[in-house]
Amino acid sequence: MTDVERQTELDAIGAEVATCTRCRLHQTRTMAVPGEGTAATEVVFVGEGPGFNEDRQGKPFVGQAGTLLSELLGAVGWSREEVFITNVVKCRPPENRDPEPDEIAACAPFLTRQLAALDPALVVTLGRFSMARFNPGARIGQVHGTFRPADPESGAPDALTFSMYHPAAALHQGSLKATLFRDMEGVPQALVEARKLRSSKPGSAGESAAAIGSEGAAIEPGAAIEPGAAIEPAPTAQPDPLSEVSADRAETPSTQAIFSSADGLAQSAKPVERVDIAAESDPTDQLGLF
Ligand code: URA
Repeated sequence: MTDVERQTELDAIGAEVATCTRCRLHQTRTMAVPGEGTAATEVVFVGEGPGFNEDRQGKPFVGQAGTLLSELLGAVGWSREEVFITNVVKCRPPENRDPEPDEIAACAPFLTRQLAALDPALVVTLGRFSMARFNPGARIGQVHGTFRPADPESGAPDALTFSMYHPAAALHQGSLKATLFRDMEGVPQALVEARKLRSSKPGSAGESAAAIGSEGAAIEPGAAIEPGAAIEPAPTAQPDPLSEVSADRAETPSTQAIFSSADGLAQSAKPVERVDIAAESDPTDQLGLF
């Protein structure tokens, strides 16, 4: 799919979301919030659902949590314009309550179709509802700051998913802000690992590079790596910088190197300064997201 075709599909989904009546949330919304960003990206951020400001503006993450998300992106040299940002549910749950299972289910096909159109290498989940979509059964306190293959049912079968606390969590529990920034340092490295995984898949463009001796893409310390930009294949095999491998994944070569601890990630990602890729105050902005 070309980027123009991806954008056309995203626009079509957005138009459907805008008039959707599949669940009760449409009755109380001001505007539906399909998501925004560039169709030409490898990285999608998925939050929980619109809050007060998002509901009024029809845009994701424009309240206080959005300001923090922009700061997190800025911390790794990225901007909102370089990624795509959306939510599990596209309409605001009243009083920012948690979305109900039937509301999540009703909205799920929209996110699935968005992911199919974008075909991201990396999905960054913000909060436990988003995490549950890509890693059912995981616990955010245990997996935040780590990445693993996305559940194929999520709509992003070829993506890695990186779990983070919801930015709004840090608005209510100040100590989580440092955790969020530390976890964010691992996101560029996760993108690099996601690219390696995709290029090693049968039929991918990178498979031939692997066949001539490269074990995937490598990054120089401090190198700029942008979402959407290709990385030059490494001339020689690179040691895996990730320290921990989950035992139950060890028998699967393609997923062997892609489960790591937050600490391991934070250390390994530190030298990467930038991985290039192709408000109003809201006191009630998204409670209970962690
Ligand atoms: N919280 C979310 O989960 N999504 C938004 O768009 C804004 C706040």
